[in-house]
Amino acid sequence: MLEKDIEKVLISREEISQRCAELGAVLTEEYQGKNPLVIGVLTGAVPFMADIIREMDCQLEMDFMDVSSYGNALVSSGEVKIIKDLDTNVEGRDILVVEDIIDSGRTLAYLVDLFKYRKANSVKIVTLLDKQEGRVVDIKADYVGFDVPNEFVVGYGLDFMGHYRNLPYVGVLKPSIYKPIN
Ligand code: PRP
Ligand code: MN
Ligand code: MG
Repeated sequence: MLEKDIEKVLISREEISQRCAELGAVLTEEYQGKNPLVIGVLTGAVPFMADIIREMDCQLEMDFMDVSSYGNALVSSGEVKIIKDLDTNVEGRDILVVEDIIDSGRTLAYLVDLFKYRKANSVKIVTLLDKQEGRVVDIKADYVGFDVPNEFVVGYGLDFMGHYRNLPYVGVLKPSIYKPIN
């Protein structure tokens, strides 16, 4: 059903699962005894968040935040606004922000600044995908699952118009899906 819209699989379900286990082992070491606050950025980070926390064998807490760029949809103004804030006070906490992808870097640059301003003890980023060619703001993830080329990728949290987030792998959409002939 969904697969017919996919041109090619970039990162398979098995590769994602293997990489989550590897990153989880590193994060388990890093956060042992620190009770990190693991923050998922809605909505794209949900599948990765669910998988990575189950590979972290340490005490942790979870929270979620939803932000969006505003300005018109074609040219982002670069500003970010909070749609849903955290329920947790981050002061003195060790924060691990979980993302599906870093593209321009604006979302994470905003969040890292925000958590520092709110006096977090430390702020680190784990992202499943890093699209380095898209970068506008200078920001680097501490932990990266995979580098991806500058293509329109969907699946495992990443959407096209709200759809395809539930694909269990990361793939490239057929151009006919996002460029309808008319
Ligand atoms: C996407 C993606 C990241 C962000 C990356 O989220 O999930 O959160 O964009 O882009 P950036 O590095 O250029 O800021 P989006 O805002 O589309 O919301 P979504 O997660 O609900 O799809
Ligand atoms: Mn997102
Ligand atoms: Mg999106």
